Amino acid sequence: MPTTTWNRRHVLSLADFSSQEYDTVLQTAGSFREVLSRRLKKVPTLQGQLVANLFFEPSTRTRSSFELAAKRLSADTLNFAASSSSLTKGETILDTAKTYLAMGTDMMVIRHKQAGVPQAIAMEMDRLGAKVGVLNAGDGQHEHPSQGLLDLFTICCILDSNNPRLSLLEGKKIAIVGDILHSRVARSNIWSLTASGAEVHLAAPPTLLPQLFAECGENRPGKLFLHYSVEPALQDADFVMTLRLQKERMEQNLLPSLREYHQLFGITRERLKMCKSNVKVLHPGPVNRGVEISSDLMDDPEFSLISQQVTSGVAVRMALLYLMGGGKAEK
Ligand code: CP
Repeated sequence: MPTTTWNRRHVLSLADFSSQEYDTVLQTAGSFREVLSRRLKKVPTLQGQLVANLFFEPSTRTRSSFELAAKRLSADTLNFAASSSSLTKGETILDTAKTYLAMGTDMMVIRHKQAGVPQAIAMEMDRLGAKVGVLNAGDGQHEHPSQGLLDLFTICCILDSNNPRLSLLEGKKIAIVGDILHSRVARSNIWSLTASGAEVHLAAPPTLLPQLFAECGENRPGKLFLHYSVEPALQDADFVMTLRLQKERMEQNLLPSLREYHQLFGITRERLKMCKSNVKVLHPGPVNRGVEISSDLMDDPEFSLISQQVTSGVAVRMALLYLMGGGKAEK
C-alpha cells in the first residue's frame, strides 16, 4: 500500500477534496484492485474493526460493495435495514447511530433519502468525542462521494490502467446527461471532474437542469457548461455519463413522456457517433433500460463501462475504509 497522509475522519462530500486526496484514493484503489485480482482476495488491514452499514434507503450496489470491501479488509460488518429496525417503533436516527456506537463501531456507512443525515451523524459523533469515521453513501439530492470516486477511478483506469491519477483528465470532454436536478451522483461527479481540469458538459431538459448548477463550475480548474439539448454535450466527448430519471423524486410532471425523453436525450449508438470514436459510456445504476440509455448499448462491452464501475466500486471503497481506518496504522 502507498504510505500517505490522510487527515479526513469523515467522507461526506467531494466539494472540498484536494487534488492530493483524489490521487491518494486513486493510488490506494489501484493497489486494492491488484489485491482483488489475487486468488486470496483478502488482507488483514482492518482486523478487529467494526464497519456498520446504516442504510435508511434502498441500495443494491453501494451497500453490497461497502460490505464486501469491509470483508476483504477483514473488518467485522453489521448491516442495518430500516424497515426491520426499531425506527419503526419511533427510535430516532441519532439514537440508532448511538446504539451502533455503543457496540464498538469504528466506521459508519450511511445512506438516507434526506440530504444532511450523514453530516448530522458525523457532527454528533464528533460532539461525543467518538473516534468514528462517517462515510456518506448517498444523502438525498446532495452527494454520493464514493460513487464520484469510483467513476473517477474507472475513467482514469481507461486512460492509464497502471497509474490512475487525476491529471489524466486534463482537457478531456465529459458529458453528463440526464436527471441532473435529482442526482447526488451528478453533484459529486461535477466536483471531482472539475477538480481534474476536465471540461464537463451537463445536458438535460430545462426542468431537470436548473441554471444554479453553473455556480458549481466557478473557481475550479476545469470548466462547466450547461446545455438544454444533448448534441453540444456529446460532440467530440471522450466519456458520456448517463443518469437515471429519478421518477420517485419527481413531485411534479417534469417531462412530457419517457418516450419523448428517450427521443431527445436517450444515449444510443446513433448518438454516440457524434463523440470521439473511442468514447466510453458510464451509468451509476440502477438503469431504466430504454429510457436514459438504449438497452443494447448498455450491454455492449465496446462502449459500456457499467460493469467496470461496479467492479471499481469495491476497490475504491476498500481504499476509503483503509484510509479512514487501516491507513492510520501506517502513519
Ligand atoms: N449507484 C448506486 O448508488 O446504486 P445503489 O442505489 O444500488 O446503491
